[in-house]
Amino acid sequence: MKGLQERRPIMNLEIPRPENLVSWMKVNSSMEVKKALPKYRCYICKDWGLVQNPNTREQQDCACKKAQDLKRHMEASGIYELARDKTFEKFLVDKGNPLLCRAKRLGMNYTENFEHKKGPHNSVAFLGTVGAGKTHLSFAIANELLKRNMDVAYFPYREEITRLKQNIINEKVYQNRMNIFKNARVLLLDDLFKGKVTESEISIIFELINDRYLRKKATIISSELTIHRLMDIDEAVGSRILEVAKGSIIQFQEPKMNYRLYGQ
Ligand SMILES: Nc1ncnc2c1ncn2[C@@H]1O[C@H](COP(=O)(O)OP(=O)(O)OP(=O)(O)O)[C@@H](O)[C@H]1O
Ligand SMILES: [Mg+2]
Ligand SMILES: [Zn+2]
Repeated sequence: MKGLQERRPIMNLEIPRPENLVSWMKVNSSMEVKKALPKYRCYICKDWGLVQNPNTREQQDCACKKAQDLKRHMEASGIYELARDKTFEKFLVDKGNPLLCRAKRLGMNYTENFEHKKGPHNSVAFLGTVGAGKTHLSFAIANELLKRNMDVAYFPYREEITRLKQNIINEKVYQNRMNIFKNARVLLLDDLFKGKVTESEISIIFELINDRYLRKKATIISSELTIHRLMDIDEAVGSRILEVAKGSIIQFQEPKMNYRLYGQ
């Protein structure tokens, strides 16, 4: 009897709607069902990468394609390579340097509690002294979040801002690129406002930071400028950074904190 029940024909199973397919598969995960289903990486779009919007009937990118695009971008941006050896373990602190100890502890706590930070203050900023380890700590956070399969988009300021400016009149290319940085679960904005900052750079950064601010998306910011300098450059950008990273801002101020010059 038991054997018969186990071998009931697959035809009797109700066909699920695409949006219910994943939970349906979890329930009906017998070997027969698994064998009977065609093998797709994505059962929503059957690997076409496109789905029809039920309201507008227009074709749009499937969620799997967006995830793949992002993964490709992450690989292309080199964040995996760059971040590899920038870990918390490799970030050395001299116990006699309270600010450095605090910076490392803040980074580690931020990473540990990341999933619980749902409110508007879910970002972190490392500011000030050149060579103090701002990028290293930002990468250490990114590394841990990447291990948890979170999408972390990397925005090395000078390179990306130049690229965006070059495409500003090509709306589609510009928006495609911007959307990678707007939509990523986490954005690593490295070396913000490095070099000579123009009005168009400020407006691009405002567009990006404001969008993420409104959607409560986390950003890891590193900049050699202090918060006062950021406010001087643009109050709207500076005050949003203050707001999103409230309680998680480290500002290095002393030149002797330059690890490149004075580190071990
Ligand atoms: N406390 C530390 N322990 C070990 N290595 C460190 C430490 N601080 C910095 N470094 C190393 O020193 C170099 C410079 O650090 P990093 O690039 O993070 O500085 P930064 O503050 O981002 O500088 P910049 O303002 O020029 O961008 C890197 O190779 C980094 O790994
Ligand atoms: Mg840096
Ligand atoms: Zn899909």
